[in-house]
Amino acid sequence: MRKPEIQSEALNTAVTQKTLIAPSILSADFSRLGEEIEDIEKGGCDIIHIDVMDGRFVPNLTLGPPVIKHFRKVSKLPFDVHLMIDEPINSVADYRKAGADWITIHVEAASDVSATLTAIGDLGAKRGISLRPMTPLSAVEPYLDQVDLVLIMTVEPGFGGQSFMPEMLKKIRTLRPKFTGLISVDGGINVETGRASLEAGADILVAGTSVFGQEDRAQAIASLRRAAGK
Ligand code: DX5
Ligand code: ZN
Repeated sequence: MRKPEIQSEALNTAVTQKTLIAPSILSADFSRLGEEIEDIEKGGCDIIHIDVMDGRFVPNLTLGPPVIKHFRKVSKLPFDVHLMIDEPINSVADYRKAGADWITIHVEAASDVSATLTAIGDLGAKRGISLRPMTPLSAVEPYLDQVDLVLIMTVEPGFGGQSFMPEMLKKIRTLRPKFTGLISVDGGINVETGRASLEAGADILVAGTSVFGQEDRAQAIASLRRAAGK
């Protein structure tokens, strides 16, 4: 097991240092996305989380490779591209070319999950897999040795600003001892729910509203980073 339950102050510190903060730009001002990305990068985040929605897998539509390509001009941080799209195998190469460092697909969205993950790896990107809240963890377990990241959805994918589903903490706790890669948690993350997720075994906090909803993004990011230690 890579990350045991938090039992001591020293462990709290260790966990805090390893925590990665990934603001989700879904909650940013889309009329000035470049500046918003610069703002969170200056604010000290580790990863830029980019939510891609196709209006089919989820009932919302966001952006695609032509837009992501331009983000590369303003940021050197890793781009974690969360694909909420049907049959992602058809476009993973385009996302990689546009600058995606991590490509996360949904287990429910691909007819051949294994082939899709192989395609992502062959492109030189890190492979991520995600699951809807109602999808059992057993759906992703067959692919654990093929992925670098598991993204646990703690809201129904599609929109920012929803409430964290505490029942999802059990998925993190169950997954932690079985998986040596990174566990990311996405949806309704704030200081309180972030802390609970880190204590359950998560490594990466994806946060939209709790970062972009605040004037001072550096402070919002710092609060999340400290979440495990408080
Ligand atoms: C939801 C997206 C999330 C979302 C998080 O489908 O995957 O990344 O933007 O936003 P908040 O933090 O507001 O729940
Ligand atoms: Zn996301």
